[in-house]
Parts: sequence; C-alpha cells; structure tokens
Amino acid sequence: MSATVNRKFVDLFSDTMTRPSPGMRKAMADAEVGDEQRGEDPTTNLLQERVAALLGKEAAMFLPSGTMCNQIAVAVQCRSGDEFISTDNSHLLTFEGAGCAAIAGAQGRAVTHRNGIFDGAAVHAAVRDPAMRHTPRTRMVAIEQTMNLGGGAVWTMAQIDDVAKTAKAHQLRLHMDGARLPNAVVASGVSAAKMCAAFDSTWLDLSKGLGCPIGGVLAGSKDFIAEAWLWKHRIGGALRQSGILSAAGLYALDNNWNRLAEDHANAQRFAALAGNIKGIELMHPKTETNLVFLDVSGTGMSAKAISEAALKHGVRIGAMGPARLRAVTHLDVSAADIETAAKALQVAVSGI
Ligand SMILES: Cc1ncc(COP(=O)(O)O)c(C=O)c1O
Repeated sequence: MSATVNRKFVDLFSDTMTRPSPGMRKAMADAEVGDEQRGEDPTTNLLQERVAALLGKEAAMFLPSGTMCNQIAVAVQCRSGDEFISTDNSHLLTFEGAGCAAIAGAQGRAVTHRNGIFDGAAVHAAVRDPAMRHTPRTRMVAIEQTMNLGGGAVWTMAQIDDVAKTAKAHQLRLHMDGARLPNAVVASGVSAAKMCAAFDSTWLDLSKGLGCPIGGVLAGSKDFIAEAWLWKHRIGGALRQSGILSAAGLYALDNNWNRLAEDHANAQRFAALAGNIKGIELMHPKTETNLVFLDVSGTGMSAKAISEAALKHGVRIGAMGPARLRAVTHLDVSAADIETAAKALQVAVSGI
C-alpha cells in the first residue's frame, strides 16, 4: 500500500507512520482472545513464544510500546542508584522522559561513540571502580540496534562481541534496544538469535518497520520475564484481550519482515537523490537501513523551513535540529514515492 493512497503527501517522517494493511486488519479482527493477565490470550501467548524463539531467548512478553520494553528492562536489570553505559544520542537517554531515572532510579553514563556505536575499550574506561565508596555502581551496558540517531547504523557481530566480552569481564548485564532490530537482521543477514545471544534483555518493535499499530515484545530468561511481569503490572502495561494486537504482530512476522529490504533500497535511492541537491549533505555517507539524515546548512534555510516547504510540495520529512532533516522509509512508501519526495525536497530547497 502506498502512502499516497490515503495521504496527500509522501510520509518520510517516521516508520511509525504506517497504517495496518487490510490483511493485518483481517488478522486482528479474526484473532482468538482471552485475558492476557491470566496467561489466557492464545494469540498473545503464541506471539510471545514465536518472538522468544526468534530472539533465542527462554521467554518473552508483549508490551504496548518500545519505551515500555526499554523501561521495564532497565528496571529489572538495575537497582536504584545504579549506572548503565549508553550514548548521549541513545533513545534511552534522549527520548524517554528520563524514565530510567524516574522509574528504575538508574542513571545513564554516556561514552564516546561513532554513530552511536562504541567499543569494549570505551566500556572498560567508563566502568566505575567498585572499591570507590562515592561513585555509582556500574550495572549494565545498553546498545541500540539499529542506531536511530546514528543514521540507522547496524552493530556488526564483531562490534557486539567486543562490547559483550568487556561487559562480561566486568560482570555487567547487557541490554539491546531492538526498536529496529528486524532492519539490522535484514540488512546484515545475521540471525536475530545470533545478534541477541549475549544480551540479558532484548526486544523488537512491532509498530515501526513491521507496520503494526502498536506493540513491542521484550525477551530474556524465564527469571527475567517473571520479574518483568511485576513491572508490567506496576506501570500499567498488563493488558486484557491483547490478542487483537498480537495478531497484528504475528501477521507482521510472516508478511512484513523480509520486505524491509525494499525500505533499505528506497532509503539508499532517497539518499542518492537528496545528497545531490545543492546545499544538502548526507550526514552518514553509508545508508545501511531505512534512515537518512541530511545536513541542510549549505542551503541557507533552516531544517524547519525546509520541512514546512517540503510538506507543501508533497513530502513530510522531519526537522531534527536547526540544520538536520531525517527521512525514514517504511512499508507505506513505494519506490515511486521516493522519486516524488526527492523532487519535492529539491523544489522546497530552491524556494520555488
Ligand atoms: C531506538 C528507539 N528505541 C525506542 C523507541 C521507543 O519506541 P515507542 O515509540 O514504541 O515507545 C524508539 C521510537 O522511536 C526508537 O527509535
């Protein structure tokens, strides 16, 4: 389904802009349901089993949002006063309303990185000395796969192994924010289970590239998920007939996973076209997945002004800072839409 079917513009604002397709809506309408809180929703149970197997974990839990997956994982892994290692541009530290501080009582420590990707040496340097009485206890390392504000960069297995080895040497726990894990899997050809093997907690988002209206699935050991259930209830994420939502997730795993390769090809094409517009530079020369960041300082216009002008010409593209635009491809954007969007951006920048 193309974005132009029901929208007056090509929507590159985010991969959260997808609407459930007719097939997904039918699967939702036909779902068998029960009370999730009592473990009696067969569709949610099935989704949890499938995602646990996919991510190579003992158990999994359906949650209404990716933020809740992150926040519950941090709350289970960290005690109040603990510190976890992350980056200044991670979703955990940037966008979740200081949830780690507010809910778990944990603080993030940002390490140096390149496109949100860091190495074992950075982890080693950031770990607090347990002998010190006045520093926090380092408890966990969190990575984001793919790295949103890093231009959709994919952590390679060598990079994951390096960080995981150092984390384990310091007895730290490992968490993966898998909002775009399916994109990383499709782009790299590495299985999700292999990518997640070293992590105590991981999740995948259903409402981004996979095109569901809502949901994420958090996975880990049986003990981790048992503890996560306490938090699910505590913060109001325990649902009732969630099978209606889980059915969308099952449909997405079967129908919307492999097609992510199209989104990556579309992003590469958009990057090539947008990068040729005078005054626009690609912020990440390699477009690995579905995110394209553009530096528009050379145009003499602000990102906001370009974004507003582009919308009038038929493309919605997000302004992420004074001179930065972000374009995201997804299943409601076709290859033809990409050509339309690039032309609209060109016109917006030329001020015609
Ligand atoms: C990397 C990353 N993590 C977590 C989230 C949170 O997901 P949700 O919007 O479903 O809460 C997002 C959302 O954009 C994200 O990009």
